[in-house]
Amino acid sequence: MWWPAAHKSVLGRLSACAYCMMQRFSTRTPLLLNLPKRYLGQPSPYTHAHLLKQGEVTPGLTQTEYALRRHKLMSNIHKESQALGLETDHAAVFLSSAIMFMSNDIPFPFHQNNDFLYLCGFLEPDSILLLQSRPGYSMPAHTATLFVPRRDSGRELWDGPRSGTDGAVALTGVDQAYPLEEFKHVVPRLLDEKVTLWYDHLKPAHNFLHSNYIQPLLETNSKLRNRIKSTQLLTQKLRLVKSQAEINLMKKAGHISSHAFIETMHSSKAPVDEALIYAKFDFECRRRGAEILAYPPVVAGGDRANTLHYVKNNQIVKPGEMILLDGGCEASCYVSDITRTWPINGKFTVAQTELYESVLEVQKSCLNLCLPGISLENLYSHMLIQLGNKLRDLGIVKERCNDSQLYKAARRYCPHHVGHYLGMDVHDTPLISRSLPLQPGMVITIEPGIYIPKNDTEAPEKYRGIGIRIEDDVVITEHSPLILSSECPKEIDEIQQVCLQGL
Ligand code: GLY
Ligand code: MN
Ligand code: MN
Repeated sequence: MWWPAAHKSVLGRLSACAYCMMQRFSTRTPLLLNLPKRYLGQPSPYTHAHLLKQGEVTPGLTQTEYALRRHKLMSNIHKESQALGLETDHAAVFLSSAIMFMSNDIPFPFHQNNDFLYLCGFLEPDSILLLQSRPGYSMPAHTATLFVPRRDSGRELWDGPRSGTDGAVALTGVDQAYPLEEFKHVVPRLLDEKVTLWYDHLKPAHNFLHSNYIQPLLETNSKLRNRIKSTQLLTQKLRLVKSQAEINLMKKAGHISSHAFIETMHSSKAPVDEALIYAKFDFECRRRGAEILAYPPVVAGGDRANTLHYVKNNQIVKPGEMILLDGGCEASCYVSDITRTWPINGKFTVAQTELYESVLEVQKSCLNLCLPGISLENLYSHMLIQLGNKLRDLGIVKERCNDSQLYKAARRYCPHHVGHYLGMDVHDTPLISRSLPLQPGMVITIEPGIYIPKNDTEAPEKYRGIGIRIEDDVVITEHSPLILSSECPKEIDEIQQVCLQGL
């Protein structure tokens, strides 16, 4: 046992890992009843009954689900350490995010580190999660400990309540919690040769916590650096395949964003400032319960749609132009990522129809292939082949082009990938290869586009200055793709109906 003496009595009372304890106590939320309501730093079933049900840590996710995630992580650490022949105890350390400041005393909206959040659901900054294997018990038996900011009436006067250690345990269901500063008593034990430390020291989520607690440790013990194992890939492998509860939350995010699109399409009449469309979309997401937009949306009128990361959103969209809106909300910690392109005055011209139908057909053909066994790379190749054919049919590239010239043209007119994994992050689980065969429970985007800048003198004039992308969010299931953004109009008739008359 490598805990400081002061903590031995606490640990001594624990007899099993969180998962095993979970079998005996289905939830710790009754502990919340003992806390004065004002002393919580995040919504709970007792203070925010409109957001959380009994037993939930964050909306839709129970203490049991969080405990199971920790259990799976420790189980995978165990498997990996066996493969490496490591016969040590194990400690996994996850840092929360820090509050970031945009200028003196002015914070950006806080966003929790998603790996930390995934494993415990605790929403306060300046916190640490420690998972330790339990000597004498077989893995994945472990203890989950949170180190959290102390209650501090001076700070709470300004920032609002903190959960404190008792609140943290009652809210999240971890085994125990200590004030953050106590972590320094644990740190020397991480040096022990009988312990393998699982921690992302190359990309710490919280620079101050890293440099204050962990960096000195690495400096005094250069051998330790080589013994540290990264948790990133292990965590991302877990996050890649969603549980039913996570899929339900992603359905909610898809539903909210889709309806925000409908309202935005209906209300946008040219001439209109892109900023107004941005504000309308943001408002329609938040009025339906989203906490925040998942990313700065692209709201691009006319030729600006050909700038893939256009986020200035400050020009006027003129009558007759198309508008590309790539936007999505974050709701209950899960995101959506949808793109629609429509004529601002609600009526597609012939040239707009030709380009739009081409992208739509390619998009549907990719969606139909979203089945277990196929990879994002396979889908990308399929998209490029289909786009190449469309570019030839539209006369954007020459009829006589061979396959490799068509492929090259497709890459020129669609410089981005067909999609990415989606989850708590927009570009979720980035260490997972796009060559991995998809399996049920994975969520991806499918987002082909054709972009023809105004100054492209090789393309037919009627298409110049039009950029079209259509993006949906898809859950892989055994049988057929489940499209989370299916309520968002994308057929030409539907879009014209929504723009001109509403639903
Ligand atoms: N909105 C970012 C993306 O589509 O990847
Ligand atoms: Mn996307
Ligand atoms: Mn997008």
